[in-house]
Amino acid sequence: MKHLIINGPNLNMLGIREPEIYGNKTYWDLVWCVEVACKARNIECECFQSNHEGDIVEKIQRAYNNFDGIIINPAAYTHTSVAILDALKAVAIPTVEVHLSDVDARDEFRKLSYAGMACVKTIKGKGFDGYTEAVEFLYNYLSK
Ligand code: DQA
Repeated sequence: MKHLIINGPNLNMLGIREPEIYGNKTYWDLVWCVEVACKARNIECECFQSNHEGDIVEKIQRAYNNFDGIIINPAAYTHTSVAILDALKAVAIPTVEVHLSDVDARDEFRKLSYAGMACVKTIKGKGFDGYTEAVEFLYNYLSK
């Protein structure tokens, strides 16, 4: 089983960026956490981060026939990007949406998720544990 983990804009700034919301750990701590969760289940994984919408769309397109599952935190593009939604629909790879913070408890504009419309599950407000939960959920989902 092979999972692609996509993190969108400003998630490379974890540890610096609004620590009261996103915590003190870095993007590389997050990569480590996901890799450990995947390794425990013998899942191959690739972690990708980009601040560019088109790069994320291309990464999703290239996942077609190459990955079994996708875990995506589209970050700010969650609330704006129909292109990412369409790319996820195009490849039709089972996808779990993750948000570190509880997007429903924040600004009104964060309540709408385009990417989420193409996802089999959304996990929010659980910090790094949300990614671990997503790895486990996808593993069980794909094993059925
Ligand atoms: C986020 C929530 C988004 O609203 C925000 O734009 C982000 C991070 C999260 O993980 O909580 O960049 O996706």
